[in-house]
Amino acid sequence: MAKNKNNQAVWNIRIKNSTSAIFQKVGNSIDIDKRLYREDITGSIAHVEMLFKQKIISFKVKNKIIYGLNKIEKEISNKKFEFKKKYEDIHINIEKRLFEIIGEEAGYIHTARSRNDQVITDLKIWIRSSTKEINILIDKVINSTLKLAEKNINTIMPGFTHLKNAQAVSLAHYLMAYVEMFNRDKKRFINNLDNLYENPLGVAALTGTSFNIDRNYTTKKLGFKKPTNNSIDTVSDRDFVLDFLYSVSVCSMHISRIAEELIIWNSDAFNLINLSDKVVTGSSIMPQKKNPDLLEYLRGKSGTTYGNLFSMLTILKGLPLSYFKDLQDDKEIIFKSNDTLTDSLKIFNEILKNFTPNKKQMLKLARSGYITATDIADYLVKNHSMSFRKAYQKTAAIVNLAEKKKKNFDELTLEELKKVDSKLTNDVLKVFDLENSVNSKKSYAGTSFDNIKKMIMKYKKQK
Ligand code: ARG
Repeated sequence: MAKNKNNQAVWNIRIKNSTSAIFQKVGNSIDIDKRLYREDITGSIAHVEMLFKQKIISFKVKNKIIYGLNKIEKEISNKKFEFKKKYEDIHINIEKRLFEIIGEEAGYIHTARSRNDQVITDLKIWIRSSTKEINILIDKVINSTLKLAEKNINTIMPGFTHLKNAQAVSLAHYLMAYVEMFNRDKKRFINNLDNLYENPLGVAALTGTSFNIDRNYTTKKLGFKKPTNNSIDTVSDRDFVLDFLYSVSVCSMHISRIAEELIIWNSDAFNLINLSDKVVTGSSIMPQKKNPDLLEYLRGKSGTTYGNLFSMLTILKGLPLSYFKDLQDDKEIIFKSNDTLTDSLKIFNEILKNFTPNKKQMLKLARSGYITATDIADYLVKNHSMSFRKAYQKTAAIVNLAEKKKKNFDELTLEELKKVDSKLTNDVLKVFDLENSVNSKKSYAGTSFDNIKKMIMKYKKQK
């Protein structure tokens, strides 16, 4: 009988000649998926325990396999394992080594499973834990943002629309806007867990298996909540990959937005914040420069994460059921997106600890651009029984007047104001005060100091 020697491909009896050399070089995924070794070994141990419980393999075989797998795990963690490209991926590399350690009985490990269910089991377990790690990092960013917000409740700056001064806000309110975004990012990752908790193991190549396996047992062992429902769907499904890549993309988009914001604020033209030396770099030619490279890195990285999402969407487009080699690339894409986001979150957290607002300049900028115009219109509605539109027009006339006289609002006299509306009294002058303006926005979610304090407390309690 033909012998399948352990140092040859598992399919060497059927496929006699070696595969194209160039394909052997590029078609393997071991350099990428070796990162799944722990999940793969955990999955295999649960699988053989189940096979034994179901009387599909003997006690002795189960124990030998588990002994071998534990030894392999140690070898890999201690960097004593030689990964071989000729064995394609982590699954075959481990199986081959198991043969070396325990001999022929290693051959029982692949009973009632396929690499098709094995790989997504590993991947789902991996994404579950990376989701947890990402959420811990997002929490750190939220904490740092809360600390910064707490220190800047009284820091007044212009809120912008179209990057033109719009209405006065507290810097803390601005920062708390990002707390909302990062909080939603966390929820987005958590929402993905539902699908990640469905256990693929046991659907084998695509049809399920004739062995009397117990999928509920491996479900429990591996921390899943239920087995998947359809074997063909299970090996073809990469929706959970898309969900992860999308969540990463949204979070990195939020980081990109605030990075852009801070780049603008740090520009010499705006000069609203200072960055400490830890988060800037210099220029090779211009000695005076302190460039916000870290922020630019963060802004740019959303390009990478969107690219990864679109790569995966494109790989899946039009792909028939069930498994195809096309799917092998999913892991590289996931790891890249994961690493990009985790690095970005760490860098962003450093930025938050290394910037100071230039409060004077913020206030100065808030004084320009007739930022309390809307407050005047509101005042006229409340005190001079006008419709909002009428009040808007009167206020526009006040803005025109101030502009003509080259004055800020708070430099206008009551006499000058009375030219626009003779009924105006001294009261109106209070409306020009920026702190009043900010604190008048008491509606829920508005920028009043009290509202912000409550919101900060609410998030701090959530921790
Ligand atoms: N390394 C492969 C992958 O990630 C494992 C699945 C291989 N299955 C197969 N039928 N060739 O996609």
